[in-house]
Amino acid sequence: MIPDETEALRIHRKYGSIPVIVEHCRAVERVARVIASELARRGVVVDEKVIQAGALLHDIGRTRVQTVRHGYEGAEILRREGVDERVVEVVKRHVGAGITREEARRLGLPEGDYMPRTLEQKVVCFADKMIDSNKARPFAEEVKRFVRKGHDVKKLEALKEDLRVVLGRDPEEVIFEKIRI
Ligand SMILES: [Fe+2]
Repeated sequence: MIPDETEALRIHRKYGSIPVIVEHCRAVERVARVIASELARRGVVVDEKVIQAGALLHDIGRTRVQTVRHGYEGAEILRREGVDERVVEVVKRHVGAGITREEARRLGLPEGDYMPRTLEQKVVCFADKMIDSNKARPFAEEVKRFVRKGHDVKKLEALKEDLRVVLGRDPEEVIFEKIRI
């Protein structure tokens, strides 16, 4: 099952997501959809329903935990809800600019690769990085945040570059053409 907006919001209610998280998810969904429709316009095949559902539910795991583990927990919740595995994997892999198997071990996460691999996973992961709370803001701001937190900026830049290649243009530009900061 790929949740539509109504179903995604029902799942948020069922697990008790706080309003600020639901608003954040909606903002990420708006950005993700802008990128998805630009990809579709260019003839790149992506599943826009998977992107929409993944974006709307990416932080459902925050109803359980506020650490990097919320991606894993969210994936578990959605799997139990019978949600399509492609959506489950989007949620599992949205944290940071992805988490490698080695990093996951160091962080004490369940064994596995948490890197966004498919386009759907990359679109949602990147859209999330472009939203602070419920507002889009320049990519450079997220780079600064990564530096402040000691996160791997190269991974974040590689994520943006992957999307730039398939879009044929800067994803940030695509976003700010359609969405005001
Ligand atoms: Fe998140």
